[in-house]
Amino acid sequence: MLEKRELGNTGISVYPIGIGLWAIGGKTWGPTKDKESLDTIDKALELGINFFDTADVYGDGHSEELLGKAMQGRRDKFVVGTKMGWIDFDGENDKSAYTSPDKVIQGVEKNLERLNTNYIDFLQWHVDFQDPTMENFVIGSEKLKKQGKIRGFGVSTSDFDYLQAFVSAGDPDTLQIDYSILNRTAENRIFPFCREKNLGTIIRGGLAMGILTGKFDKDTTFPEGDFRRNWIEDSDQKEQFMKDLEVVEKLKNSFPNQNLAQLAIRFIVSNPDVSVVIPGAKNISQVEANFNAGNAGLLSDDEMKKINKIVNPGGGRKIWPA
Ligand SMILES: NC(=O)c1ccc[n+]([C@@H]2O[C@H](COP(=O)([O-])OP(=O)(O)OC[C@H]3O[C@@H](n4cnc5c(N)ncnc54)[C@H](OP(=O)(O)O)[C@@H]3O)[C@@H](O)[C@H]2O)c1
Repeated sequence: MLEKRELGNTGISVYPIGIGLWAIGGKTWGPTKDKESLDTIDKALELGINFFDTADVYGDGHSEELLGKAMQGRRDKFVVGTKMGWIDFDGENDKSAYTSPDKVIQGVEKNLERLNTNYIDFLQWHVDFQDPTMENFVIGSEKLKKQGKIRGFGVSTSDFDYLQAFVSAGDPDTLQIDYSILNRTAENRIFPFCREKNLGTIIRGGLAMGILTGKFDKDTTFPEGDFRRNWIEDSDQKEQFMKDLEVVEKLKNSFPNQNLAQLAIRFIVSNPDVSVVIPGAKNISQVEANFNAGNAGLLSDDEMKKINKIVNPGGGRKIWPA
């Protein structure tokens, strides 16, 4: 087992391997079954995972509802990170529907209802570019914190300028950011900034949406309703997917006896700038595999050197656009 890590200055400690619950919403990552999703959450908790990441829009609220169901009678065992920002987004004017701090506060009431709880541990702003409503979120969050409805707040973005603007607007606790063997760009400016500002880091994209598990190849297909279909249907995305598979091939050759998903997770938690990684998992075997990565411990210097030869420190490519 790894040691727990504190998220920012909040005094809230989490096991460094958490779980992302977007896929169990059931609408974006292919079909899911609620019973299997609830069993996956139960298994995560039983193993020792305590950080659970979701959002208002995952499965149009279904992911939050499932988490709410799973938490009944044991709310204190869960550290919940959820997000808001995209519901009723005004695309024409690039503006969220949260046009005042009060609207943010009202919106959070809906997160709380779906989660069937009276507090959220970490509320994250999901709109990842400079729209004119960011400050409303920050002001609203500061008020919600005083009211005890949230324990901390932050933003989900990989954009350094946006992160700086967010930090200038208030006193956030966390950043959710894309980071993996395939995308090490956070090592350049964002991790040093988080260290300086004492922001806890919540890592998404750790398995590069499954690519870093090593289970895909050039003949892989994706089911209807799985956004990863674009990787084979869109020629630019296909080209990138093929390049990523070449990196995976190199990893397989350099680490022939290792489970690649576990290597990818160990890489992330070996970075002391990381608070928690949230690999998405849809079933018990995935959550077990992801959790068990921690039992293999941090990467040795030799293992890190081999990875550095394949993807330079600070190098790689952005997986999520923002
Ligand atoms: N803007 C944002 O804030 C944002 C954006 C993206 C993600 N997130 C958060 O991050 C979480 C994770 O998403 P991600 O993009 O980072 O995905 P990821 O963790 O890189 O990949 C998750 C997918 O990989 C597959 N998988 C997971 N564990 C596996 C294992 N051990 N073996 C084989 N396959 C495995 C599963 O899909 P299949 O079985 O279908 O392959 C799973 O849905 C999301 O749930 C969400 O909470 C947030």
